[in-house]
Amino acid sequence: MEQPIYLDNAATTALDAEVLNAMLPYMQQHFGNPSSAYSLGRNVKSAIEEARKNIGTILGVKPSTLIFTSGGTESNNMAIAMAVNELRCTHIITSPIEHHAVLHTVEHYAHSRNITFSYVKLTESGEVDYANLEMQLSTQSKLGKKCLVTLMHANNEIGSLLDISLVGKLCKANDALFHSDCVQTIGHYPINLKECGVHFASATGHKFHGPKGTGLLYVSEEIKAYPLIFGGGQERKLRAGTENVSGIIGFAKALELATANYAQDSQYIAQLNQLMRKQLAAAVPGVSFNNPENSLYTVLSVCFPLSEQSDFLVTLFDMKGVCVSGGSACSSGDGGSHVMKAIGKAGACATLRFSFSKYTTEAEITRAVEITASLLQKKEVSAV
Ligand SMILES: Cc1ncc(COP(=O)(O)O)c(C=O)c1O
Repeated sequence: MEQPIYLDNAATTALDAEVLNAMLPYMQQHFGNPSSAYSLGRNVKSAIEEARKNIGTILGVKPSTLIFTSGGTESNNMAIAMAVNELRCTHIITSPIEHHAVLHTVEHYAHSRNITFSYVKLTESGEVDYANLEMQLSTQSKLGKKCLVTLMHANNEIGSLLDISLVGKLCKANDALFHSDCVQTIGHYPINLKECGVHFASATGHKFHGPKGTGLLYVSEEIKAYPLIFGGGQERKLRAGTENVSGIIGFAKALELATANYAQDSQYIAQLNQLMRKQLAAAVPGVSFNNPENSLYTVLSVCFPLSEQSDFLVTLFDMKGVCVSGGSACSSGDGGSHVMKAIGKAGACATLRFSFSKYTTEAEITRAVEITASLLQKKEVSAV
């Protein structure tokens, strides 16, 4: 079967061959348990610590502040659980466009514990209203509540970017803890976590050509870390269970490659994004874009005029050999994307997210635009 045109790199990315090569020895000859006392185990433990050290250097933090997890979901859960269960946060400020790994965790603790939460106001284009955040922080602080602010560094659907350093400063001024879901940015931008002023940051390997099931939680040395998973003494007793050794090695290698090639890859991907935007604007009457000006270069969120095909676009693209994500199911009334709803665009158009990687080619973009134009050349229906 022909390989599909893969334009869903914000969902996951292909494993880099170099990453696979770095991982394979840790599935075969270096298979020892890192907790074992003999050298077959101790050497593996050393490799994990070497990976942690290299990641710490890239992210500008001490290796001891990094906990390996199973991915972004676990890291987000762990940070929020720590803040609520152990660090005495009684109010959470978040946004309605966070990933469900944050939103559902916040809702869980709000229902099961005596804590409150609120959403920060967003601008029309889905960016955080910083004045509103500051106002909410100061109100909660006057009420004597300790706040956790959990705001994503970049939104996975529309690409909006957070001024993470500004939020870090606002949190510091109000004695609040700050968690950022950096799943769409770590591995895509040079980030110094220490300078950002975050207390917690989440990352996942599979968004930047690393293996699935590998993640990271940064916990600032300013605060004491607590486990979410109990058992053995792995990860300094912060995350029990035999380590995903090859995954950790792969995560570190993928981050190393992403960092070394950042200038070249980011420029290339941004240019593909621009190309698709230009070609779609020329080929599809009435098309518009959901990305705010300050946006992830990897993501293009497109608003197509409603048509008979609107509800089935992802399937129709799949039948033509193109992998894309739907943003909102528009006329079907099934609710659709919580992000599009939060920015008031649900139902107004048919949203598709195209997202790119270093492996995407110009020819694939051009072909995907041709397919888009042919799929949309059907009678338009009015908005619901
Ligand atoms: C912004 C964001 N946060 C969290 C996650 C969850 O990450 P993982 O799949 O590694 O659990 C994703 C993945 O889609 C994401 O895009």
